[in-house]
Amino acid sequence: MNLTLKIWRQKNSQVEGQMVEYKVTDISEHMSFLEMMDVLNEQLVNKGEEPVAFDHDCREGICGMCSMFINGEAHGPDRGVTTCQLHMRMFNDGDTIYIEPWRAKAFPVIKDLVVDRTAFERIQQAGGYISVNTSGNTQDANAIPIAKEDADLSMDAATCIGCGACVATCKNASAMLFVGAKVSQYALLPQGQVEAAERVSNMIKQMDEEGFGNCTNTGACEVECPKGISLENIARMNREFMKASI
Ligand code: SF4
Ligand code: FES
Repeated sequence: MNLTLKIWRQKNSQVEGQMVEYKVTDISEHMSFLEMMDVLNEQLVNKGEEPVAFDHDCREGICGMCSMFINGEAHGPDRGVTTCQLHMRMFNDGDTIYIEPWRAKAFPVIKDLVVDRTAFERIQQAGGYISVNTSGNTQDANAIPIAKEDADLSMDAATCIGCGACVATCKNASAMLFVGAKVSQYALLPQGQVEAAERVSNMIKQMDEEGFGNCTNTGACEVECPKGISLENIARMNREFMKASI
C-alpha cells in the first residue's frame, strides 16, 4: 500500500504544533500501525530528518502506552484494540490517514504524538491500592469467599490499561471511565472495603484537581475503550461516592 500521512508535529508543550504531510510506500497490510510508523521514521532518519515521536512499549495491547488519535478515533477505526494491535489491513491503498495526539488539558503534549499522562498516576496514588496486614498473621486471599459474579466484574474492571482513550474521546475530556474502573475493581471485593470511602473520595478529588471534565453520559468512552470497560463502572463509582459522602 502507498499512503499519505498527515501527522501532528510539535516540538514541545511551549510551542504551537501543526499537521505535516508525509508519504509512505510499500506498506504491507499485515503490518501493525506502529510498524508502519517505524517504516516512516526509518525513511525520515535516512533523509536526516527528525523522526516522529510516539509512545509505545509492549506492542501487545497490555501497557496502554500507544496513544494515538487516528482519523478522528482513539486507537483508530478497529474496535477493542489498541493502536499497536491495529493492522494496516483496516486501511486501503491510496488512503490519507490523519494522526494526532490525545487532546485534553490534563494530558499536555510533550512532543509530537507523546502526551503526559502522569495525571492518571496521581489519581492512582490517591487511592488505587489496598492496605494488607503483613505481620505474619496474613489471611490467605483464597480463604475469603467471593461470589463468582463479583470476582468476574472486578477482573473486568481491572483490565483497564490506563491508556487514556476514554479521556481523548470524551467531548468533556472526562476521566470517569478510567476512575470508575479503578474504584470498581476494589469496591467489588471484600479486600477493598476497609478504605472504600476514603478511596473513592480521594480519587475523585484528585481527578477534579487534574482538570478532567465531568461525565454527561454520552458513552463515547465505552465505544472507544480498547478493553471494553463498561459504563456500569461509572454508575458504581457514583454510588460509592454517594455512600462515602453520607
Ligand atoms: S477505561 Fe478503557 S479507554 Fe479508559 S484508560 Fe482504561 S482501558 Fe483506556
Ligand atoms: S504498546 Fe502497549 S498497549 Fe500498545
